[in-house]
Amino acid sequence: MKSYPPPKEFVATARIKHSALEKLRKEGIRSPVEFWERQAEHLLWKKRWTKAFVRKHPHVQWFVGGTLNAAENCLDRHVTTWRKTKAALIWEGEPGEIRTLTYGQLHSEVCRCANVLTELGVKKGDVVAIYMGMVPEAVIAMLACARIGATHNVVFGGFSADALRERVIDSGAVCVITQDAAYRRGDTVLLKSAVDEALSKVKSVKNVIVYKRTTLSTPMKKGRDVWWHDVMCTASIVHKAPALPSEHPLFILYTSGSTGKPKGILHTTGGYLVQTTWTAQNVFDLRDDDIYFCTADIGWVTGHSYIVYGPLSNGATIVMYEGAPNWPKADRFWDMIERHRVTIFYTAPTAIRAFMKWGDQWPKAHDLTSLRLLGTVGEPINPEVWKWYHDVIGKERCPIVDTWWQTETGAIMIAPIPGATTTVPGTATQPLPGILADVVHKDGTSCKANEAGLLVIKHPWPSIARTVYGNDERYRQAYWSEFPPDKRSGRDGWYFTGDGARRDADGNIWIIGRVDDVVNVSGHRLGTAEVESALVAHPAIAEAAVVARPHEIKGQALVAFVTLKSSAKNVQLEDLREALRKRVADNIGHIAKPDEIRFAEALPKTRSGKIMRRLLRELVTAGTISGDTTTLEDLSVIESLKGNDEE
Ligand code: WT7
Repeated sequence: MKSYPPPKEFVATARIKHSALEKLRKEGIRSPVEFWERQAEHLLWKKRWTKAFVRKHPHVQWFVGGTLNAAENCLDRHVTTWRKTKAALIWEGEPGEIRTLTYGQLHSEVCRCANVLTELGVKKGDVVAIYMGMVPEAVIAMLACARIGATHNVVFGGFSADALRERVIDSGAVCVITQDAAYRRGDTVLLKSAVDEALSKVKSVKNVIVYKRTTLSTPMKKGRDVWWHDVMCTASIVHKAPALPSEHPLFILYTSGSTGKPKGILHTTGGYLVQTTWTAQNVFDLRDDDIYFCTADIGWVTGHSYIVYGPLSNGATIVMYEGAPNWPKADRFWDMIERHRVTIFYTAPTAIRAFMKWGDQWPKAHDLTSLRLLGTVGEPINPEVWKWYHDVIGKERCPIVDTWWQTETGAIMIAPIPGATTTVPGTATQPLPGILADVVHKDGTSCKANEAGLLVIKHPWPSIARTVYGNDERYRQAYWSEFPPDKRSGRDGWYFTGDGARRDADGNIWIIGRVDDVVNVSGHRLGTAEVESALVAHPAIAEAAVVARPHEIKGQALVAFVTLKSSAKNVQLEDLREALRKRVADNIGHIAKPDEIRFAEALPKTRSGKIMRRLLRELVTAGTISGDTTTLEDLSVIESLKGNDEE
């Protein structure tokens, strides 16, 4: 396969060149803790740590004894320099308005909001839910929480009221920050009304702060709701950032696992900020004159780590966009890159596949010469798509950083260093310095070159999730039960990523995909079990099994197999199909609606009664089942499933 050494012009000014990377890698292998301690020196600490790394399996702590404030690192330390008047945030609304906030202005707004939250009684350690679209106020709200030591819980604006309620209750949020509505594809998405619905029976929430984005009229609940503009305009811009312990909880972010209940991934302050800062600086080769555009939504971890914390901690200029990539036309991103002179562009393979399908004429109509680096994240990128990104968007000049990481890892783990690494389309290449990743067999032995195995991380890293909020046992079970500490071999516990992978003879890691029941639809992580529980909650449904099949644009698409209760044998199947899709949208969000719902007589099960999703997966991908069916209870089920096409 063709490989791409870093272009000479890029190397000339790159932060890390080949020999430097080799040296950092060696240091990282010799002592990951010392490596990360050296990177921690670049943050602003109020008190230096006394112990860099403490482990009490499965929990870890980093920079113990140290205190800092994440918002102060992202704002105050720049405001005392020339960066006070540098653009921190260039925002573009979907209808076209542009707002720029300098570091000085962003700092003032965050201080105001910190004072507002404090006025409303939000205290250090409280949880604040943020349910907003892509507006600067979402960033301000996150940093204001960080500033006062409240733990933010950002819920993606595309999630339904039910999904929001579940996340508010599980996190025990005391305050919700939202907006009346968001603009999306020329339309409005009502967020405040979803909050009202979500909170109808929730006791913990005392206040809802509502940012007014549109001209729609919005009912406000007396005694609970306040307008953002009312409370912000009278608040002081003076606020002293308190010192918080390194392990103070910074945020909770819910993500899907292999059960029906989403996991509240908990990240803390010091380690998270050290690793997001270092990776943003070095994987994106960030410089002061860069204009950095990450297209992720603030509701996902990419928005947290690579719109907010990583870039702002580095004093970078970020571009943030509110709406759809094809609004008003399919060239919105290229138009924005041209107008804002974007130098670094970070997006997802599912988006690139869509751009490719929309056609070369859209990017070709724009001047993209400002770009110098491209990035991707979220799923494996097919080599043809990589090549298109490289040739048509990067004009064969820009290195591509394919970055592998997870909500749980908090920051990038496997990725090229653009001025040093020779890239190969389809692989995120090698673990970053200080990250000890390996591909192993189930028994823990390392796989040979090109052998498929499980991707593990053998030493905890600073931005690792500390637990599943309120559920240490689930944390242990999900990440540490596959490779627990082993006294006989002296092995410490290894973190299991849930991904299958292989490593080639050059040491590049190729991600094969999840080995659990987690799927990736248009870059959105979904647990098939969550969709199944939404389906079986319908009175007509007896059982449901949801699997994914490959999809040209979305990466994966959901196919649901359902069986009916005998009481429901006479229902109109077309109506039921619609009702089920609506139910999934109501329970989780539109992103989780199955592409296909197949009604089955029965589902294939093992003799112990477990649904054999593996067979269903094979059926929807290959169209037939040839794999091992010896544990199947009733072979005739397979025959009937084959004959059951959608219409
Ligand atoms: C899963 C994590 C990290 C932010 C977005 C997704 C897949 C992620 C890559 C990549 C191949 C990738 C993995 C991983 N994934 N990046 N560059 N190449 N696969 O975060 O929702 O927590 O999902 O996304 O399967 O486990 P997430």
